[in-house]
Amino acid sequence: TGMFTYDPGFTSTAACESAITYIDGDKGELLYRGYPIDQLAEKSHYLEVCYLLLYAELPTAAQLEDFEARVTRHTMLHEQMVNFYRGFRRDAHPMAVVCGVVGAMSAFYHDSTDINDPWQREVASIRMIAKLPTIAAWAYKYSIGQPFVYPRNDLDYAANFLHMCFATPCEEYVVDPILSRAMDRIFTLHADHEQNASTSTVRLAGSSQANPFACIAAGVACLWGPAHGGANEAALAMLREIGAPERIPEFIARAKDKDDPFRLMGFGHRVYKNFDPRAKVMKQSADEVLGLLGIENNPTLQVAKELEKIALEDSYFVDRKLYPNVDFYSGIILDAIGFPTSMFTAIFALSRTVGWIAQWKEMIEDPEGRIGRPRQLYTGAPSRDYSDVETR
Ligand code: CMC
Repeated sequence: TGMFTYDPGFTSTAACESAITYIDGDKGELLYRGYPIDQLAEKSHYLEVCYLLLYAELPTAAQLEDFEARVTRHTMLHEQMVNFYRGFRRDAHPMAVVCGVVGAMSAFYHDSTDINDPWQREVASIRMIAKLPTIAAWAYKYSIGQPFVYPRNDLDYAANFLHMCFATPCEEYVVDPILSRAMDRIFTLHADHEQNASTSTVRLAGSSQANPFACIAAGVACLWGPAHGGANEAALAMLREIGAPERIPEFIARAKDKDDPFRLMGFGHRVYKNFDPRAKVMKQSADEVLGLLGIENNPTLQVAKELEKIALEDSYFVDRKLYPNVDFYSGIILDAIGFPTSMFTAIFALSRTVGWIAQWKEMIEDPEGRIGRPRQLYTGAPSRDYSDVETR
């Protein structure tokens, strides 16, 4: 391959050093700053995990209180951004709106766009963690024609998000602690995942020294696709389409058929060649939430469990080490909470924002940092002379 190593899809290229997240794909292990994801999902909560990802250590009680106060202070959006929302078509996909609004933040928060100023980097980070729930919730409200609901700083992070999505001026949304806990767990499980496509996008955008809001908007754009963050939306749509356990074999056959582009959504992972540890927690959480809501006979959950069972016994999936990933069960929980599928990826984006920021900061603060500039193997025409249009 001449001068360069050719590595399509970057399956064997480390593009950076990072001390944030560790994955052992064969073991099915995921650690944030050394802490196993299942312990964090069980015992910690999202804002504490945000602190851990950003500052490398678990906070003391005082540090956590201070961090939560700083995040809470920034939950409102600049009021003029309301006009920006109103410019979108009502049927715009929430991800289109989130991507646009996050990018537009660089036009509103000039005092936190200088990447060389540590204080500005810090404020930008806090602003994004604080505002993404508001941004995502307002994308939802706009799509259903309801008035925007302002954040409530007396609620915790997840409960406030549910409040902004489901309260109306005429009716308060009483946040069920079981649902806000499940929501918080979804945020935690998605908070970071080392150098996946969207995070690599954020790093590449950031390597040009673009401002952090622009970089995170690039991450949101990359996350949208069905092979990445869009998989949660696609997975629930697929489970609904299957509809009943009797139809599973038909879909399994399609997934195995190389002439059919259909894949089992929520199955397979570039790095995990074992159960995705996040999927384990998610499955348990789905059981809990549906049980507590008294809808454990939910046909979608039944289809999901049966599909998982059949696939895990099928040599096609076994040989290729295809296991359920994080998105296989998350949609069932989000659906039970009351979200439409179009919001699923926006919720992933809001959860992943802290990971993107932590990785962006790590890159900016690396003294060895330089612009990312992949090379290529050129396969086009050799040098040739221009011909005038009449002679072609
Ligand atoms: N259903 C059926 N076959 C599959 C699937 C699937 N979901 N995933 C992979 N395969 C097959 C694939 O056809 C190939 O078979 P063969 O060797 O015979 O050609 C083999 O398994 C390896 O697949 P690959 O496409 O080379 O693997 P990859 O690492 O490039 O892709 C993936 C990883 C996640 C994009 C892929 O597994 C996939 O498309 N899964 C469905 C979408 C999905 O659930 N994505 C969410 C990922 S987790 C959340 C996130 O990170 O955003």
